[in-house]
Amino acid sequence: MRKVEVDLLVIGSGVAGAFAALTATTRGARVLLVTKGALRGGSTCWAQGGIAAPVNGQDDAVHAADTVRAGRGLCDKTTVNVFVREARELVDGLRKAGVPFGQDLTLEGGHSVPRIRHVGDATGWAISSALSTQLVKARAAGLHLLESTFVRNLRVRNGRVVGADLLTPTEPVMVRAGGVLLASGGYGGLFPVTTAPPEGTGDGLALAFRAGAVLRDLEFVQFHPTAVVTGNRARLVTEAARGEGAFLVNAMGERFMSRYDALLELAPRDVVARAIAAERERTGNVFLDLRHLGESFLARRFPTVTASLAELGLHLGRDPIPVEPAVHYTIGGVQTDLHGRTSLPGLYAAGEVASSGLHGANRLASNSLSEGLVFGKRAANAALDDPHPAPDWGEATSVGVADRQVVKAVRQIMGQAAGLIRGEALLRSGLSALDALPPPEVTAEPSIPNLEAGNLRELAPLLLRSALARQESRGGHARVDFPDGTAPMHTIIHRSGQETVLNSVPHTNSTAPPLKRNLC
Ligand code: SIN
Repeated sequence: MRKVEVDLLVIGSGVAGAFAALTATTRGARVLLVTKGALRGGSTCWAQGGIAAPVNGQDDAVHAADTVRAGRGLCDKTTVNVFVREARELVDGLRKAGVPFGQDLTLEGGHSVPRIRHVGDATGWAISSALSTQLVKARAAGLHLLESTFVRNLRVRNGRVVGADLLTPTEPVMVRAGGVLLASGGYGGLFPVTTAPPEGTGDGLALAFRAGAVLRDLEFVQFHPTAVVTGNRARLVTEAARGEGAFLVNAMGERFMSRYDALLELAPRDVVARAIAAERERTGNVFLDLRHLGESFLARRFPTVTASLAELGLHLGRDPIPVEPAVHYTIGGVQTDLHGRTSLPGLYAAGEVASSGLHGANRLASNSLSEGLVFGKRAANAALDDPHPAPDWGEATSVGVADRQVVKAVRQIMGQAAGLIRGEALLRSGLSALDALPPPEVTAEPSIPNLEAGNLRELAPLLLRSALARQESRGGHARVDFPDGTAPMHTIIHRSGQETVLNSVPHTNSTAPPLKRNLC
């Protein structure tokens, strides 16, 4: 087996991983970035709406307040303040790096002023293109890139993460690293219908969990209010459409958002998603109406959405668009501090894989790309600055492998048990159904799809157990049997030996009062 030694191993090439790798390479570190797909892959590329950052210094406090309000009492206020302080400069830096943001700022749900930079409705693609160009250039400065490479397991010595074992297209590679930084995205792949890319199989969370790291608030799953769902495919209609003035009507042609929130269509996502679900239940269908915005504006402003819906014979300027909520973003993740440090020394996390405390129970729209920049950079710096003990190859953590058929079953179970509105009976029957599936196994030569299936199989019961433990409704977790909020708390889950340990810990860094009546 080939052996490689680096200062920093970065797993994932979305905005958080790319920016972390560039930060560390600029500092002269030996960096290896691996991604299981192509360099320009993962959910960053799929982001339509834009990237949020304060408009100017005066907007810092307002952006922070919007983030905290959307987060429903669970944001870490220190994290939020760091985020708003650092996001603007980093987002402006993207413009200098070649991202052709338009001059206008747009509005999305929960933002009290237009502050979202965008490149039409293909912002993620533009950011990913600029960053991957920089990554390729950084090879001259010693950055190593490995595509189509899967991280089979981490390597640990005395509770410290010291490296990982990789499956590359040509050979297995053992890596020894001063720091390992997870930037591998979320776990939207647990669900049958999602706007997230298929790569979102929770690999980073499963790696961290098997090594003993603490995962937090896995039950918070953000549903995007406006997806067009056909079979198992969910096409996103960006929230920026409502920012530009699109409105929602039910099957009776009534605008209904005034019954749910004073911010109408621009209420935070959890409210709009549940309102749409309730109106679909009551009247049969909900439509997003953009027709008044005019054909030529729509084609210019939303070319990605226009093209994607044209495949269904739908035209933004002509047709009310049938929409429904779909799983979009996973808020829970590997618990991190302000510098991306996880509960395990040597292991760092940034982006969707992490639970940084920024999003609380409900992410403010378009905060995730800027989160990737801020905390990708912070995590890379911490990984280089933290003291490292003498180099050690460590021991491989366990590997969970499952048959690919299991994925279909897991998704079906999770779609039923952990949907937009949950309840004890469904969550418990989901757990029983998962118990009936074969557990992840260890095999000598696993394939990447089998490893992904093993990761999903591992994470599914952790999410359901966390959802059962949260006996309240808050943000991205709504329970029909517990419609009110309770004292703010976090669910944390980790492996100790062969046991899975789940606890609730009080949330201590918020001024928000407990919520009442969080369900629409
Ligand atoms: C969207 O364009 O609506 C998605 C933006 C986000 O998820 O933040």
